[in-house]
Amino acid sequence: MTDRPKHRLSVTVTRRLPEPVETRLRELFDVTLNESDTPMDAATLGAAMKSADVLVPTLTDEIDQKLLAQAGERLKLIANYGAGFDHIDVETARRRGVLVTNTPGVLTEDTADMTMALILAVPRRLAEGVALIQSGEWGGWSPTALTGRRVTGKRLGILGMGRIGQAVARRARAFGMQVHYHNRRRLHGDIEAALEATYWESLDQMLARMDVVSVNCPHTPATYHLLNARRLKLLKPTAYLVNTARGEIVDENALTRMLVRGELAGAGLDVFERAPAVNPKLMAQPNVMLLPHMGSATEEGRIEMGEKVIINIKTFADGHRPPDQVLP
Ligand code: DGY
Repeated sequence: MTDRPKHRLSVTVTRRLPEPVETRLRELFDVTLNESDTPMDAATLGAAMKSADVLVPTLTDEIDQKLLAQAGERLKLIANYGAGFDHIDVETARRRGVLVTNTPGVLTEDTADMTMALILAVPRRLAEGVALIQSGEWGGWSPTALTGRRVTGKRLGILGMGRIGQAVARRARAFGMQVHYHNRRRLHGDIEAALEATYWESLDQMLARMDVVSVNCPHTPATYHLLNARRLKLLKPTAYLVNTARGEIVDENALTRMLVRGELAGAGLDVFERAPAVNPKLMAQPNVMLLPHMGSATEEGRIEMGEKVIINIKTFADGHRPPDQVLP
C-alpha cells in the first residue's frame, strides 16, 4: 500500500490528450493542461512540477535528474502517457520517492501494424510510387518500372521479441515470411513454436543472414546504438531496415552513410535519433520511407493509453500500487 493522499489530486498534463481522456481526468482530479500542445521547455516543466501531485508527461518531455531536482515535495507519481519511458530518469525518481507508471499493451497491435506496413512498403517502393503519381509524370504501366523485392518467403529478423516483436512475428508469418529473432532472453519453447520463430543467440550472425531487420526492442543504456556502424555493415546490401522503436537504437549517421553509398537496399523509419530533426541526406534518399513517429497513432489506441494513465493515477490515489508501475 502507498500513502493515500487526503486531498483531490492535482495533476499536470504536459500535452493535449484525446478529448474523452481530458474530460475524465477533469472529472476526477484538479487538472492543469498545456493548452498550447507544444512540448513545454524545461523551465515551464520544472515550474509545473512544483505544485503537482502527479505529472502526466509524454515521450517529448525529458524528465531527467536536473528536472526531478526541481520537483516539489508533493510530486509522488509520474504517470507517463506512453509505453516507452526512456525519457524518464526512473532511478532518480525512485530515490526521490516518486513512482513512475507507463501504458504497456494497448499500443502493441497498432505499432505492429505500422511495422508490418513498413516491412511491406519499403521493399515494394510505395513511397516512390506515390511520388511518381503526385509528380504528374506517370506514363502508365511498364514491365520494368518500380520493380521492388518480394517479401513472401524472405527472412525477417526481429530485434526484441517482447509484446510488439511477437505481434510483428504473427503478421509476418501471415505474409509468408520466415521469422527469426534475437532477444536478451530466449522465448519459452511453446511461444517460440506458436510463432514459428527461429532464435539467434548471436545478433551479429542473425543480422548477416536477414532480408529485412525490424527493430522492436526498448531503448535502454544497453540498446543505445545497438545497431552501430559495425553491426549495420553486417547487413546484406540487399537487406532493408525497419525501426518503429526508438531512433537511438540505430546509429542514424552510419545508417544514412550506408544508404547514400548504396550499401543497403532501403529503410523504413518511424523514429529518429534527434527527433523531430531528420537528417536531410536521409530525406533525400528515394529508397526510404520516413514517418513522424506515428506507430501508435490510432484514435482507439490513444484513448486506451489515456484510460491506462487514469487507472494508474486512481489506483495510486486509492492507496494501492498502480498496475503499470515501472521498476528501475
Ligand atoms: C510509446 O508509447 O512509447 C510509443 O513510442 C508512442 O508511439
